[in-house]
Amino acid sequence: MQFGYFDDEQREYVITRPDTPLPWINYLGCEEYFGIISNTAGGYSFYKDARLRRLTRYRYNNAPLDSGGRYIYLRDDGFPSNSNGPLFWSPTWQPTRHRLDEYECRHGLGYTAIRSKLAGIESHIRYFVPLGENLEIWELTLTNHRSKPANLSVFSAIEFCLWDAWDDATNFQRNYSIGQVEVLDGVIYHKSEYRERRNHFAYLACSEKLSGFDTQREAFLGAYRGWDSPSAVEAGRMSNSIAYGWQPVGTQHIKLRLNAGEGKKVIFILGYHENPQDEKFDPPDSQTLNKRTVIPIIRRYLQANQVEHAFQALRAYWDRLLEKLQVTTPDGHTNRMVNIWNAYQVMAAFNLSRSASYFESGVGRGIGFRDSNQDLLGCVQLVPERARQRIFDLAATQLPSGGAYHQYQPLTKRGNHEVGSDFNDDPLWLVLSVAAYIKETGDWEVLCEPVPYDNLPGSEEPLYNHLERSIQYTLDRTGPHGLPLIGRADWNDCLNLNCFSDTPGQSFQTTTNKDGKVAESIFIAGLFVLAVDEMAGIARHYQHGREADEFCDAAQEMRTAIWAAGWDGEWFRRAYDDLGHPVGSKECEEGQIFIEPQGICVMAGLGIDDGRAKQALDAVAERLATPHGIVLHQPAYSRYYLHLGEISSYPPGYKENAGIFCHTNPWIIIAETRIDRGDCAYDYYLRINPSVREEISEVHKCEPYVYAQMIAGGDAPTFGEAKNSWLTGTAAWNYVAITQWILGIRPTFEGLEIAPVIPSAWSGFDAVRHYRGVRYVIQVMRKGSGNKVQLEVDGKAIEGTVITPPRAGTKEVQVTVRVA
Ligand code: GLC
Ligand code: GLC
Repeated sequence: MQFGYFDDEQREYVITRPDTPLPWINYLGCEEYFGIISNTAGGYSFYKDARLRRLTRYRYNNAPLDSGGRYIYLRDDGFPSNSNGPLFWSPTWQPTRHRLDEYECRHGLGYTAIRSKLAGIESHIRYFVPLGENLEIWELTLTNHRSKPANLSVFSAIEFCLWDAWDDATNFQRNYSIGQVEVLDGVIYHKSEYRERRNHFAYLACSEKLSGFDTQREAFLGAYRGWDSPSAVEAGRMSNSIAYGWQPVGTQHIKLRLNAGEGKKVIFILGYHENPQDEKFDPPDSQTLNKRTVIPIIRRYLQANQVEHAFQALRAYWDRLLEKLQVTTPDGHTNRMVNIWNAYQVMAAFNLSRSASYFESGVGRGIGFRDSNQDLLGCVQLVPERARQRIFDLAATQLPSGGAYHQYQPLTKRGNHEVGSDFNDDPLWLVLSVAAYIKETGDWEVLCEPVPYDNLPGSEEPLYNHLERSIQYTLDRTGPHGLPLIGRADWNDCLNLNCFSDTPGQSFQTTTNKDGKVAESIFIAGLFVLAVDEMAGIARHYQHGREADEFCDAAQEMRTAIWAAGWDGEWFRRAYDDLGHPVGSKECEEGQIFIEPQGICVMAGLGIDDGRAKQALDAVAERLATPHGIVLHQPAYSRYYLHLGEISSYPPGYKENAGIFCHTNPWIIIAETRIDRGDCAYDYYLRINPSVREEISEVHKCEPYVYAQMIAGGDAPTFGEAKNSWLTGTAAWNYVAITQWILGIRPTFEGLEIAPVIPSAWSGFDAVRHYRGVRYVIQVMRKGSGNKVQLEVDGKAIEGTVITPPRAGTKEVQVTVRVA
């Protein structure tokens, strides 16, 4: 069952009924100001940091679902008492949930438009954030389709958050007394804490003259009433309340008379603004907010032509980004995901890491070290300059030991002390992201840039040294089998082998009560080989030939350790626990085989020559693959194991306890291409592809246009149900798997490689890839059933699969690829 459809031409997903199984969200903003917006206008906004600079309130985990948003109410002021039409309603359905005659929500790239019709009044609201601005626009167009004039009231409503979202949700004894606003010329300014240490404020403006406003929540809603029936909307009258403590809100009231057939545009702006520290007040010795700095911005965006201009600029921005790679394959799902939605989701993950979504509350996690490094793998080609900066930000939270803070706060860019470090896989991901960045851009200079450790001035070293320390960190921490010690956890945050947690509330990750000298990770071992191979490539180019050899030796030693203690006979083991017993082995009662080491070890090249890679992947196919995707391990843990940790805390089939943890599926997809099984790789690719799953939306439940972190595995009664959409490494890795390994268009240090491993039934595909300033027009033709590649560049056959950069000044290259 579907709740909408893809409009590929417009690059939109069109939702045709408001009551989707879960709120289906989109993101506004792509630079510093962001918002989440659901298909019924729910969500919230923030500046840079969803925890520290939250503009509006949203109530997670509330009933009804999706509470808090950018609300508009329409009121029929000519409502005759004998009418059966409604007195007031929400044109976005929420929060009144009045039945609408027509409804349609279009989620596009960086914008959302909701159109509806009721009682002859059509409403169209377009929400977006103009490029370069810290504000969002709600552009409302009302049309009277009645045969008579309509007298309408329009109300806007948002609830301000008192900036720090965590504090806002907990510290009521203080917060009920700090709310402050100013209202001038119809603009509502929210300035709580501005009198003291803040120099920023929020504002809500409207293009029409107000009939009234309210800024005290209960004055607008009425005591004990909700957003579904505000008393001010019901009465059609505001009380011009000025909040002084309690709950500051921004609500505005305008009155319109629309003749039959007449349309009218009304613009609302919600924004964030900072004043220079010495120009906070106007006059300077007063406590009055200085508005002179923001008024020109407000004036500008209250003009319809400026709004249209900004909207077109936003569309052009996304067109430019997506242009980097466009493909035409025989499969519509692949085209749509590669050309539009997967790239878009990768950008959302890049922008927000794991901070704010319908499942991430914005207060819990900032920028994750391993998460963001993996996100970079999917977006270095889209935003290379920003990727470069992100690499520096991440590397600056690395510690002198080579370890890294697991997370940092986007506003301050400082490592998060509560979570700390010692997730032993973390530093290796930095090597992969830097390698991906250089392969894309050819920017070797990046390695010379000085970057501090732990953000300490004076500790700067070239980025290259950071990478060396990342590698050394693993070498300094090996266990009894010569395999890397796992630390608090490796990629699988929930496999906690050094934390025997028996008390409710104890963190599974940070309560480390074992000395950590025994438990080892074969996943990190595989990741190490992958990273060291990249390091060898980097060192060779960086004129560090001797080091390159040392890296190769280190990789060889690690491979030997993996074969000696990490191979279970038919697949790779997962780990060794604190007692030295294997995890992910036939010897185990539960959790006999895990997906992660099969993926990462084969990606690192292990067992490709001697058939053991194939054996491992056959075991995955036989034991882990399901119609909804590949589960994390089998058998699921049926009870809590003190020595394994959080993984066994989840009910079987969910999350890390044998859920389909989608992040890991593309590792298997890539591994399958490494052993030339294109059909199998592609089959796995389709199983978790959200567009393919659109037709089972009632089962899948999450948005059909983006990947979710997890789909319930076969051990759960809700098999096939997705959770935690949007902010997941699944986006980047699937993008890498389909574009670089199945379609095979792969940046290398030397140039663009083209080595597709496509399904046997495909006759070929076309692609246009912009790479290091050159447009590669690629035509792939299948001439036989294998994966042998013969390349012709501008009509001339070349050796191998890598196209070295063409002569300087070349703008376009024609590539013909014969696959046989
Ligand atoms: C979450 C985390 C990620 C971790 C994964 C597996 O997605 O963000 O860091 O690797 O779970 O536990
Ligand atoms: C929990 C989640 C896991 C996530 C981690 C982040 O352990 O199960 O997926 O990576 O929290 O801290």
